[in-house]
Amino acid sequence: MTVIYTIDKAASIILNGGLVAMPTETVYGLAADATNDRAVARVFEAKGRPQFNPLIMHVANIEMAERYVHFPSLAEKLAKAFWPGALTLVLPRRAECAASLLVSAGLNTIAVRMPNHKIAQDLIKVVDRPLAAPSANRSGSISPTQAKHVRDSLSDKVDMILDGGASSIGVESTIVKIDGENATILRPGGIARDDIESILGKPLIAAPSSESQPEAPGMLPSHYAPRARLRLNVAAPKPDEAYLEFGPTKLSTPYTLNLSKSGDLREAAANLFAHLHALDDICSPHNLTGIAASPIPMDGLGEAINDRLTRAAAPRP
Ligand code: TXA
Ligand code: MG
Repeated sequence: MTVIYTIDKAASIILNGGLVAMPTETVYGLAADATNDRAVARVFEAKGRPQFNPLIMHVANIEMAERYVHFPSLAEKLAKAFWPGALTLVLPRRAECAASLLVSAGLNTIAVRMPNHKIAQDLIKVVDRPLAAPSANRSGSISPTQAKHVRDSLSDKVDMILDGGASSIGVESTIVKIDGENATILRPGGIARDDIESILGKPLIAAPSSESQPEAPGMLPSHYAPRARLRLNVAAPKPDEAYLEFGPTKLSTPYTLNLSKSGDLREAAANLFAHLHALDDICSPHNLTGIAASPIPMDGLGEAINDRLTRAAAPRP
């Protein structure tokens, strides 16, 4: 009973233009009614996000998505294989699309995804409208995989936080843009490239790399950043560094967290942001100079993990 009541309350906040942090299987999202301009504007404001960066629209099913975007057969094939799940499809807006123009931030496409999380699905169903939701963290900082992470960074900006425990996948969705017969990967994420390519029957096209005008505008070089300095591909951390380890423990310092002792990349993805948050929090109280991270293999979800770590380590703007 409590659960139903809570979802109803969250839905009425959304329908009144408010913001609700909701759990998804990838990361927590900061959700607003995607058809309400003022509510979507509040999302940008709460995140401190540059206005040119468009949002992902979360839907209950393919039918809901089809009311807002064109769904070419290639997109349908991918949605049937991976929805609900960690795949976002960038598709052309319909002329009569009722989503706020702010959601697509001036582009003629919208990114859509059906999350694989009961609470998020229930919320979208009760609201009966798509929810625009970026990750529920301040722009540029580490993504939230637990309700506590949202509370720490956005508590004064959101009207309600739905606590659904830790996100099971732990990195954001893979973003694929569909343009007729072309499928371009804009962001590696929770579904591995190989799995998508095996459904497509062909390789994904690489996104054109332009740092000033990224194809997925959220793909700025510095993103997902902890406050502490991050060094990558470190086999042996210095004594005054926190250590983000991967694989069998060899030289644990007192400030080590292991992403996966067995070397499992899915487990590592699920732990990535929570471990970064935790190490970031101990650096300053223990006078550590920064965080060092183990090398991570590039296969499977390793591509998404390495992408996030590289951005977290990039020079800050
Ligand atoms: O797993 C996820 O994708 C999470 C959960 C909450 O669903 N959401 C998420 O949202 O990661 P956000 O806003 O942090 O990242 C969305 C990315 C940004 O890089 C943005 O530029 C890109 O999607 N994006 C959104 N709409 C786009 C569009 N029309 N064309 C190209 N890229 C788009
Ligand atoms: Mg984000």
